[in-house]
Amino acid sequence: MSENNHKSSLTTNTGAPVGDNQNSMTAGSRGPTLIQDVHLLEKLAHFNRERIPERVVHAKGAGAHGYFEVTNDVSKYTKAKFLDEIGKRTPLFTRFSTVAGEKGSADTVRDPRGFAVKFYTEEGNYDLVGNNTPVFFIRDAIKFPDFIHTQKRNPATNCKDPNAVWDFFSLSPESLHQVTILHSDRGIPATYRHMNGYGSHTFKWTNAEGDSVWVKYHFKTEQGIQNLSEETGTRMAGENPDYKTQDLYESIEKGNYPSWKVYVQIMPIKDADTYRFDPFDVTKVWSHKDYPLIEVGRMVLDQNPKNYFAEVEQVTFSPGTLVPGIEPSPDKMLQGRLFAYSDAHRYRVGANHDALPINRPRAQVNNHQRDGFMRFDGNGGVQPNYEPNSFGGPEEIPESKPASFKVSGAAASVEYDHNDHYTQAGDLYRMMDDGERSRLVKNIVDSMQPVENDEIKLRQIKHFYKADPEYGQRVADGLRLNVPQEVHQA
Ligand code: HEM
Repeated sequence: MSENNHKSSLTTNTGAPVGDNQNSMTAGSRGPTLIQDVHLLEKLAHFNRERIPERVVHAKGAGAHGYFEVTNDVSKYTKAKFLDEIGKRTPLFTRFSTVAGEKGSADTVRDPRGFAVKFYTEEGNYDLVGNNTPVFFIRDAIKFPDFIHTQKRNPATNCKDPNAVWDFFSLSPESLHQVTILHSDRGIPATYRHMNGYGSHTFKWTNAEGDSVWVKYHFKTEQGIQNLSEETGTRMAGENPDYKTQDLYESIEKGNYPSWKVYVQIMPIKDADTYRFDPFDVTKVWSHKDYPLIEVGRMVLDQNPKNYFAEVEQVTFSPGTLVPGIEPSPDKMLQGRLFAYSDAHRYRVGANHDALPINRPRAQVNNHQRDGFMRFDGNGGVQPNYEPNSFGGPEEIPESKPASFKVSGAAASVEYDHNDHYTQAGDLYRMMDDGERSRLVKNIVDSMQPVENDEIKLRQIKHFYKADPEYGQRVADGLRLNVPQEVHQA
């Protein structure tokens, strides 16, 4: 608040001193208001334009500034400069979020949590736009709008719709692993500080020699995992819908800085052809026995935003914002996301969103993109706005080209070549103790109970049963339904 303490003149947006900010100009003390009061007109008109579209998903969130520090040498895997030296620190901004609710919705609902990090590296921004879960509900971007429609409001009632949720899940069995995580104890993290983050997708790292590996990111909370029960989450959603937003802000304000240890799993490129499932399938985790965690560094959040709108609302993260040494994998979800985010940013914030202070890279930006709404950064000045030209300007850096890679096969809309949606979901169920299993089943039963159509419930029970017969039986018992005969026989 200190910035506001010194006395300064109140002005209009064009800088003219304002004489009266309490009384509009009227024709006589009881007369109508004059259109001549341009200060009044400006205030009312600007107020009407305060809202920008909220994010179509992940609308409710909280963010903080911090830094990433390298603690282990991974330069044999990637040439990314911000990772090239132990002890190197890179400033960053992180935004946590819920997924399905609107900007004013409650923080303590059962939902995945977004975990988006913008590293302001010396080679430009690097965004890792992940979740607090290592997997996702679907594995092809073409299903994302349908999936999200089921998580949002029914087009007729404008209410949340359990029929749509479970209809979609039951018809999309690839969701089973994430559905199990979502309804487990981890489905409602206690705060944003007490949860892990994951890049979820497989990415590619390439080193200075041009050799590549596949990589998955893990951010492990140093505060420890803590979760809320369904009952506490529901109660707190009423008592303090902004509980997690407030918790993050107040922790940092008190100097209690949250931190995460960052690890990667590394898979040799050739393993992808022979691994027991497609390692680019985002509904699966890689076994830690096969690919153990390798430490990379530590993320610390130590500074609150000064202004929520300027920073947390206007920040724009995209999985396509990469630096040399970090590249996409062929994951079909990730490929779709490479388009979706920057497109959303141009719509939600504007064509020049990258020039805003929160998004502006700390590295110099040099190119021939010009003009557009709200261009405020000098717009390239007198430099030529085309290339090639005879007058100089920025040049390409061939070393920063992505590694070349082979592609093969017929171009077609094809399914994944494996459909085991059950082993990993079942393994997760079997890893839980009895208390965890009971809470999982209760959360699922409570969520499925309102579904009106028994066919949908039975279809979903079959999936639980295939993951583990006990899992399916307990959900069926909770819903007072019989497990379909054909599942017993399968
Ligand atoms: C936000 C699309 C899958 C994590 C968004 C936004 C869009 C979007 C349009 C809003 C962006 C904005 O307005 O700034 C998609 C599509 C997906 C997909 C099309 C699948 C094809 C995923 C997955 C993850 C994820 C798999 C995590 C692994 C996030 C996060 C945000 C977000 C964390 C919020 C970023 C922020 O804090 O600003 N997504 N998404 N999304 N998405 Fe996705």
